[in-house]
Amino acid sequence: MKPIISHEVFLTSRRDLKNDHLLLGFGPFPGAASIKPGQFVHIGFRNPLAFYRRAFSIAGVNTVKREIEIILKVIGRGSYQLSQLRAGEGVNFLGPLGNPFVLPGKRQTALMVAGGVGYPPLLFLAMHMIERGYDPKNIVFFYGGRSSEDIVDRARIRKLGVRFLPATQNGSFGERGMITALLKRFLSTPGTAGSGENVIFACGPEGLLEAVDRIAAEFETPGQLALEAPMPCGFGICLGCVVPLKSGGFARVCKEGPVFDTGTLAL
Ligand SMILES: Cc1cc2nc3c(=O)[nH]c(=O)nc-3n(C[C@H](O)[C@H](O)[C@H](O)COP(=O)(O)OP(=O)(O)OC[C@H]3O[C@@H](n4cnc5c(N)ncnc54)[C@H](O)[C@@H]3O)c2cc1C
Ligand code: FES
Repeated sequence: MKPIISHEVFLTSRRDLKNDHLLLGFGPFPGAASIKPGQFVHIGFRNPLAFYRRAFSIAGVNTVKREIEIILKVIGRGSYQLSQLRAGEGVNFLGPLGNPFVLPGKRQTALMVAGGVGYPPLLFLAMHMIERGYDPKNIVFFYGGRSSEDIVDRARIRKLGVRFLPATQNGSFGERGMITALLKRFLSTPGTAGSGENVIFACGPEGLLEAVDRIAAEFETPGQLALEAPMPCGFGICLGCVVPLKSGGFARVCKEGPVFDTGTLAL
């Protein structure tokens, strides 16, 4: 069993991404260079108002400065505590935890499907692949939200040179409708479908993951889903994060996940 590493880290940077989204950088993080997209940190707070740790996907790493980034949306007590940190203030990180995404083949097209604040691990995945010589034209970044305000960090996504396909339910940015409808239309377009040519990577609300799982089966396309179940312990002992498997039994999102192959979970 791999040891669980605890780090005291300090806030080094902070960027307002609008609509209550923040990008926060923390360091020093000794293992930054070996972190892979899909992994997460479990953050402990000094303030007793947020008693349990909260999990956050790693959204990027700076291997030179040994820093990691997370992107959060301020929702409740834990994310609020993080949003109030000042430069130089510390928190405790457990991690990196969880199993990362398995990278696609260099000739495959990666279809990344992000819903709302599910986009950080996919942004990291896209950056990680491009740094490793993947062609950005082989990455399609589907990003959905309720309205334009939910689609944050657009400039960074565009700068990567990937194909950016946003959709909003009220039509205020990108296509009108669900992002999964856009994914389905993409896969239905002659020349784009085909098992083995595309690989889907998704992160977002439960409904989005369920829909992506169904679409992956319908188009016989392999895929990986990153789950965000509430996680009391983060390292496999409390069973507070389990999800049912199609084959029977359960898997712990923190330990066997958070990334699962499509077709394996009873969503
Ligand atoms: C592996 C993993 C990766 C994650 N990555 C990110 C990330 O990159 N950015 C980010 O902003 N958040 C992420 N989360 C969610 C994060 O851990 C917190 O759950 C979220 O910030 C809300 O916590 P809070 O303390 O602010 O709100 P709380 O006070 O805990 O909850 C406020 C409300 O949000 C609901 N809620 C709590 N947790 C979740 C959840 N996981 N999903 C949906 N609703 C929830 C509660 O039911 C409650 O209604 C991730 C979770 C996991 C397990
Ligand atoms: S959070 Fe405790 S087992 Fe997963």
